[in-house]
Amino acid sequence: MSEIVLSESRGRVRVLTLNRPDKLNALDTELTEVLVAWLEEADRDDAVSVVVLTGAGRAFCAGADIDEFQDLTPDHAKRVEHRAQLTMRSHLVFSKMKKPVIAAVRGAAMGGGAGLALACDLVVASENAKFGYPEIKHGILPAIVITNLTRQVGRKAAFELVSTGEPMSAARALVLGAINRVVPDERLMDEAMALAQTLAGHSPEALFAIKQLFHKVADLPLADGLEEGRKANVAMRGFFKA
Ligand code: COA
Repeated sequence: MSEIVLSESRGRVRVLTLNRPDKLNALDTELTEVLVAWLEEADRDDAVSVVVLTGAGRAFCAGADIDEFQDLTPDHAKRVEHRAQLTMRSHLVFSKMKKPVIAAVRGAAMGGGAGLALACDLVVASENAKFGYPEIKHGILPAIVITNLTRQVGRKAAFELVSTGEPMSAARALVLGAINRVVPDERLMDEAMALAQTLAGHSPEALFAIKQLFHKVADLPLADGLEEGRKANVAMRGFFKA
């Protein structure tokens, strides 16, 4: 696959790096397609338990590539529809994967970039990280990423982010529960890898089953969630080793 996403295995951890640093890893069609392909490949690979997603250079991801917008007009309806489908897939893939994904975020995580970070199961951020949804400032909306945002922080905080377009600091994102850790910039990858290794040290069957159940029950009414839990409780007897 193209070098626009770098893939490296470190034990049972797969590190995927968005590799378009001169454009702050802005998500053009190629980067988005290759990222989805690598995430799906990591999920299929039996040698991988956990994925770490990061960005090359000084930013995690500056969101949708603005330079592609000029071709995304109503007279290019097929292109517009393809782009919307691809963007949706790139945010849905994380919850479909059975393996946890940890975002390691430095610098800007804007728009679709903030969406990617928050779509990951865990987020470790550098002190300099900034998360924002600036679409309103371009006269558009964070159409795809808004759904997950409403699930990650309280509604008032979510609406403030999308209606003002103003970014929040890593410290604020931590207070809101949108991310897990804020670390010194030079420690970012070490801390993300340490967390990944902790997860990768657990039983893969249990880890994958936890992630799958987590995403299944997160949006279910209580009784339906408990029913899924009952089924998972029975199923786990099949891989528990006393
Ligand atoms: N799409 C395409 N290119 C982008 C981009 C995006 N979303 N974000 C940044 N870039 C490019 C810049 O055009 C610039 O390219 P150039 O050097 O060829 O001119 C390069 O990345 C560096 O960006 P720059 O703006 O100079 O960096 P900065 O440190 O001054 O600012 C940001 C960083 C993130 C605040 C700023 O780049 C920004 O606001 N980007 C747009 C974020 C956004 O609105 N995303 C949602 C889109 S809907």
